[in-house]
Amino acid sequence: MQTVNPIGIFDSGAGGLSVLREIQALMPNEDILYFGDQGHVPYGPRPMKQIQDFSEGITRFLLGQNAKLIVVACNTASAAALKYLRQTFPDVQFVGMEPAVKPAAEKTQTGKVGVLATPATFQGALYASVVERFANGVELFQNTCNGLVQQIETGSLEGMETRRILEDALHPMMEKNIDTVVLGCTHYPFVIPMIQKIVGEKVRVIDPAPAVARQVKRLLEAGGMLNRQGGAVRFVTSGEVMAVESVIQILLGGNVKVESVTWLNDREVLVQLPAG
Ligand code: DGL
Repeated sequence: MQTVNPIGIFDSGAGGLSVLREIQALMPNEDILYFGDQGHVPYGPRPMKQIQDFSEGITRFLLGQNAKLIVVACNTASAAALKYLRQTFPDVQFVGMEPAVKPAAEKTQTGKVGVLATPATFQGALYASVVERFANGVELFQNTCNGLVQQIETGSLEGMETRRILEDALHPMMEKNIDTVVLGCTHYPFVIPMIQKIVGEKVRVIDPAPAVARQVKRLLEAGGMLNRQGGAVRFVTSGEVMAVESVIQILLGGNVKVESVTWLNDREVLVQLPAG
């Protein structure tokens, strides 16, 4: 599918689709180019420098396809690379993710909040700064949910392993009397129904994607860049095309065609020409 001046969105894999669906719902006339780096998923346990290199390579690819704004729809890449991307591409507008500690701290009644994110997100300066600015005496309980990203990448939203990982993360937090859970990884909104089953309906689960979509809209409006008559969406992956097509079908519904791209090295992506 052809896109003209699309919004570029990327993630280590399918997680950024939780942001894509909010952007689509809010701005159905925007063309979107989504890059899932399934060839490298998960990013969470990787060194910061490598995540920066991947993010730079993907950004160059998206700009090469005329992206007008780039959404780093990945908390891990935002933690590791957002600052670096803004320095490296000073003329490009980026929208990134940060764990929603601020709204959680404002709304909690018990003063206790759970945060689910990857190891790299917790280690990054961005998380430390969010906690310092907004936690405001609220006690935060963190968990990296090891293996959950991979479960979601296979479309296992309700499987036994998915439930086990979430129970292991959430039960100790519930014993501490949390009343709010912050989703600090864009994969995790896809398991909100399972999370809600475990913690009960009284615990608030915060998905930051709608706020990110509103921020994208504000920037496009301010720059006079809103699209009035588009709506094409193009998906590319550095992973297995068929596997990615089927996980998109599970996560978003509907049939989509996914295009294949290849990494030449850690910072350069090669577009594959269609066969024939
Ligand atoms: N979706 C991701 C995030 O928001 C990446 C998870 C990973 O690749 O480890 O952090």
